[in-house]
Amino acid sequence: MCGIVGFTGTQQAAPILLSGLSKLEYRGYDSAGIAVRDGDKLAEVVKSKGRLGNLAEKTDEGRALRGTCGIGHTRWATHGEPSQINAHPHVSGNCTRSGSGEVESEVVGVHNGIIENYAELKDKLLKHGYTFYSETDTEVVIKLVDYYYRKYNLGPVDAIAKTMVRVRGSYALELMFRDYPGEIWVARKDSPMIIGIADGETYVASDVPAILKYTRQVYYIGNLEFARLTPGEAHFYNLNGEEIEKQTTQIKWDAEAAEKAGFEHFMMKEIHEQPKAVQDTLNSVIKDGTIDFSGLELTKEEILSFEQIYIVACGSAWHVGMAAQYVLEDMARIPVRVELASEFRYRPMALNQNALVIVISQSGETADTLAALRLAKEKGMATLAIVNVVGSSIAREADKVFYTLAGPEISVATTKAYSAQLAAMYCIAVEFAFVRGKITEDQYAYYISELLTIAPKINKILEDKERLQWFAAKYAGAHDVFFVGRGIDYAVSLEGSLKLKEISYIHSEAYAAGELKHGTISLIEPGTLVIGVLTQSKLYEKTMSNMVECRSRGAYLLGLTTYGKYEIEETVDFAVYVPRIDEYFAGSLAVVPLQLLGYYVSVAKGLDVDKPRNLAKSVTVE
Ligand code: F6R
Repeated sequence: MCGIVGFTGTQQAAPILLSGLSKLEYRGYDSAGIAVRDGDKLAEVVKSKGRLGNLAEKTDEGRALRGTCGIGHTRWATHGEPSQINAHPHVSGNCTRSGSGEVESEVVGVHNGIIENYAELKDKLLKHGYTFYSETDTEVVIKLVDYYYRKYNLGPVDAIAKTMVRVRGSYALELMFRDYPGEIWVARKDSPMIIGIADGETYVASDVPAILKYTRQVYYIGNLEFARLTPGEAHFYNLNGEEIEKQTTQIKWDAEAAEKAGFEHFMMKEIHEQPKAVQDTLNSVIKDGTIDFSGLELTKEEILSFEQIYIVACGSAWHVGMAAQYVLEDMARIPVRVELASEFRYRPMALNQNALVIVISQSGETADTLAALRLAKEKGMATLAIVNVVGSSIAREADKVFYTLAGPEISVATTKAYSAQLAAMYCIAVEFAFVRGKITEDQYAYYISELLTIAPKINKILEDKERLQWFAAKYAGAHDVFFVGRGIDYAVSLEGSLKLKEISYIHSEAYAAGELKHGTISLIEPGTLVIGVLTQSKLYEKTMSNMVECRSRGAYLLGLTTYGKYEIEETVDFAVYVPRIDEYFAGSLAVVPLQLLGYYVSVAKGLDVDKPRNLAKSVTVE
């Protein structure tokens, strides 16, 4: 949901801002803009609608703008349509229709997040004589800063603190004040922002990949904190305007991990990184053939004490929860309930206080998941977060954190983070089952050894991807696709369906196979593609009979099962096989052909695989 960057130092800022934005474009890509200052001259703003390439062209790759201090933004529209005038940066004064040019204003800024009470604040500012040129909440917050700045005439610290007290919502805000050349002021609540420090240079970004090329020393700015950034230095303040001390943290990510490394798209690269993501995640807790949760500070006593588990997440992370619940509940014999974070946070539930709440999030910034985590904490429940991004809000606020070691995930459609999250959940299931006495020592050792086969088996699936490419080209023109399965296979179907629809724009639904006949089967027409996931032996016949019901209505059947179940060929039109594994963990393998299918259909349709329309990687608004 929007990406922001900033730089102050001795180099020219514009090329650095554009390079940072190019790494954040996955966060939003309907318009972009930068503002750069040359010493104490006025800031110059350039914005443009559409992809970042338009802005790069307009600024001659940044060479057209002189100055060593600047801020930039790539937008995913919330308030106001995607247009040049609504693009950031915004200014406290008036501006031309294009929004570009030299800025006479006191304050210029960019913002990621949502100002919930912007309408009320806008009314107040209108009464004080302010006029508005855009439909954005950002223009309102920048004018509010300007209002306090002028009214109290006390400088940025008080103006920002007063603004932060007055606004409701989420923000990562970057501001430049006309009277403070070479300085960037930043403020944060519930939207991600990191500050990178190098010799005589300071960087700001929504996410690590944007600054990795320049520095690995970062500050995490806390909620309701703000900072003054000068070349090579950062001074932090709390809401009272008091200076606070912070230490830098060293980022360990490999810079190359954020590049495409010869793949045509990040998504394909990330699909291929799954074996490593899974293996690294497993290795982080599996030591000498046993699972060791001491790094998570999750004790055996705690594991024994929980009466219930709630898994809360959004999108694909919720699908991980859906798949994991079958394993956790069956293997560890503990009641598990999986909730969508956006529902959980507003639903008065009769929660079991002796429960563990597991939140799952790649970004660690998803607004609904973060709110659900806070709610669980407020209710005094124990919380564990499965998170990929170190230092993210969810990672910092949860009681315990299990980091997935998937590395930076750039493609908007998740693949390797999903797989790493699932691997983490399996470890939780196996450890809970063992500690709670539901499996024997031999079973424990067996399950762990099976987990360690996931990565090589994913590699095996990837060796045979061309068949799926062929099939995808054949079905690229489909209007509707149905994914069906039961149990774990249903959970995998949910993810397969989401992968297809989000990047290929083909309508698709996932159904628990037995549910089709309760309504949805009326949509099946001659030629409709029905994809059945059949990895669970006990449910194989049941799902197959539902697929046959579809075939009788003219559906074309794709069956996804494990090697050895070759009888499937007698019923389906096209069969896809994955290696055999203990069936609890089959979801980790079955999902891979479905990811590939979504990918290849999108490519066959000539779509932008990594940046599908209307989406953004990190959903920091509710
Ligand atoms: C789909 C996808 C999304 C995310 C969801 C949660 O491919 O990536 O559905 O899974 O937005 O995001 P995180 O995991 O960052 O909380």
